[in-house]
Amino acid sequence: MHLPALLSAEELAQARHWLTQGPWADGRATAGPQAAAVKRNAQLAEGPAAQALRALVMQALERCPLFLSAALPRRVLPPAFNRYRGTGDAYGPHVDQAIRQHPGGPLRADLSCTLFLSDPGSYDGGELLMQSGAGTRGAPAQQAMKLAAGDAWLYPANTVHSVAPVTHGERLAAFFWVESLVPRAEERQLLHEMDLALTRLRQRDIDSAGAESAEAVALTGSYHNLLRLWART
Ligand code: NI
Repeated sequence: MHLPALLSAEELAQARHWLTQGPWADGRATAGPQAAAVKRNAQLAEGPAAQALRALVMQALERCPLFLSAALPRRVLPPAFNRYRGTGDAYGPHVDQAIRQHPGGPLRADLSCTLFLSDPGSYDGGELLMQSGAGTRGAPAQQAMKLAAGDAWLYPANTVHSVAPVTHGERLAAFFWVESLVPRAEERQLLHEMDLALTRLRQRDIDSAGAESAEAVALTGSYHNLLRLWART
């Protein structure tokens, strides 16, 4: 799912400023052995810049209705930041670990998110590639994402994915994982579709005193009852 303009232009400028502060470390330090073998990038090390950037992204997520509706977040792993340089930095096909360490205890990664921070015209390559099932002749089908700066791509964390080599310029991004209140993707998807339709219905179906229709109230109840059935708190 595409989350357009997660960051405002001002926030984006602020984020880029902090990213120039560094310090940067080898990205392999935070990957398991299978992923480390195919990972070539740099990651922002702990410091004032990383702290400020994490706060900025977390604030942006909290005010994004599309993210909240689609992800139904229980906990979000504080974002990390990476840099791929045009000297062939890349991240080969890999899967993300199911369990991540969160300050509040182990976090189950249900969703992965990449927030693009560089203007797509400022670097060549660097697409986020997601494999989905079998394509033609048994080769995996692949979806390529290269979004505008400030836009994010939210996807199931069980997807085999990669970052294409950057051949020119510099690709900066934030990435993080989300543990959802609703672990099963199908259930989460149904709730999200229902929420989108319900939001439109509630806006349309309103009387002159601002009261919603009995049907809108009943369907809102059904949404919450499904969430009650499926949520793990
Ligand atoms: Ni990954």
